[in-house]
Amino acid sequence: MKPPLRIGLAGLGTVGIGTYKILTEHADLLSERCGRPLNVTAVSARDKAKDRGVDLRDVRWAESVHALARDPEVDVIAEMIGGADGDAFDLVRDALDNDKHVVTANKALIATHGIDLARRAEAKGLTLAFEAAVAGGIPIIKSLREGLGANKVSRIVGILNGTSNYILTTMEATRRSFEDVLAEAQQLGYAEADPTFDIDGTDAAHKLSILASIAFGSEVAFDKVRCEGIQKISPVDFQYAAEFGYRIKLLAIAEEGIGGILQSVHPTFVPAETPMADVDGVYNAVVVEGDAVGRTVYEGRGAGEGPTASAVVADVIDVARGLYQPVFQTPVGKLRPFQQANFDERRGKFYIRLAVMDRPGVIAQISRLLADENVSLESIIQKGTDANGAVSVVLMTHETSEKSIARALSGIEALDDVMQPSCMIRVMEF
Ligand SMILES: NC(=O)c1ccc[n+]([C@@H]2O[C@H](COP(=O)([O-])OP(=O)(O)OC[C@H]3O[C@@H](n4cnc5c(N)ncnc54)[C@H](OP(=O)(O)O)[C@@H]3O)[C@@H](O)[C@H]2O)c1
Repeated sequence: MKPPLRIGLAGLGTVGIGTYKILTEHADLLSERCGRPLNVTAVSARDKAKDRGVDLRDVRWAESVHALARDPEVDVIAEMIGGADGDAFDLVRDALDNDKHVVTANKALIATHGIDLARRAEAKGLTLAFEAAVAGGIPIIKSLREGLGANKVSRIVGILNGTSNYILTTMEATRRSFEDVLAEAQQLGYAEADPTFDIDGTDAAHKLSILASIAFGSEVAFDKVRCEGIQKISPVDFQYAAEFGYRIKLLAIAEEGIGGILQSVHPTFVPAETPMADVDGVYNAVVVEGDAVGRTVYEGRGAGEGPTASAVVADVIDVARGLYQPVFQTPVGKLRPFQQANFDERRGKFYIRLAVMDRPGVIAQISRLLADENVSLESIIQKGTDANGAVSVVLMTHETSEKSIARALSGIEALDDVMQPSCMIRVMEF
């Protein structure tokens, strides 16, 4: 048998402890599968005295991540601290510089510094792996990098944030407000105390930019993701979505567009009869379309102790077996600079909900402004009058461009009888 793989765990929170548990509870199984033991030799976190519900007495405590990065008795470091910068970044950079393989669950780090870190890893023939960083327990990185490696990918569509999916699913089922459901999600531990990155789309954008780099062979471009969150969705939007035959999901989409790649995260009407529409609660899902394979669909738990640790350990197993992959599938020196497609030219159907004063001629004015931009309507619904004399006007357009919708909406919102803000949701047909 080969000598043991010596593992250093940085971060002993949800993911770190989950990883420790799998490595110790499945020690015999993993040793058999890898042909060598997988031993945790050192750990690091902030508070040594904290009770973490596991027995760490036989494991050396590294006083800092800097000590861990230089530890001569560690072959691979699993970084499970979090954050794009600070100690997580220092640890990963220093570990690679000290000839250690790195496995991480940190999407913010890879979305921000992935190319720099990949360069360091590949220059030394070291592993930098991050299966746990995208879609938790779903092996989507491995699928893209290995199982689908023969394909030219044309589109990736994902539900990549469990918190926002839980909120949308609960709002739809209960017709309660966004604020109310978010507060409940925080109480249940599905949303963090600061949920900003989950609800404004940033977390999904981090993950999308990583998937896009692997799929399209271009450098990670998190700053080129067009991002809209779920804060503007009202309970009534779910009712209208159902009337039109859709459900609302926060989709992360990377696809070939005019002149490059389009990366976007936004709430989306998804046809109710498609698999993506059935992904509920904290689950994640990813659809990948490749030229040879066609459409493939992946679904599973996108976060939590077990699923995320399962992905971390999968990467550790690859290191133990000596399997080496270029970090983003294409060797880092061959990744193309990211070419952004023109979002204005993107085409699709749009749902628009307006609050307007119930006065004669308003609908005619709205119709004229849409017609001026060549936007034709598939459907128009006018509902009830509220205490202020406002009615909801709901429009479903035929296929048109982002540019036309943006221009028409800016004209419509400037009308005296239209109250701000309107709610526009893109429609995706699969
Ligand atoms: N939770 C999930 O479901 C999930 C899913 C996918 C990916 N991830 C990613 O996994 C990573 C970890 O998430 P988590 O949920 O496990 O976080 P967490 O529960 O907050 O744990 C973070 C751990 O990092 C330690 N830590 C913080 N700063 C440190 C420092 N400067 N030096 C050493 N240790 C430090 C903390 O130490 P103390 O315990 O002593 O405070 C804690 O043990 C993040 O990148 C996250 O985005 C998490």
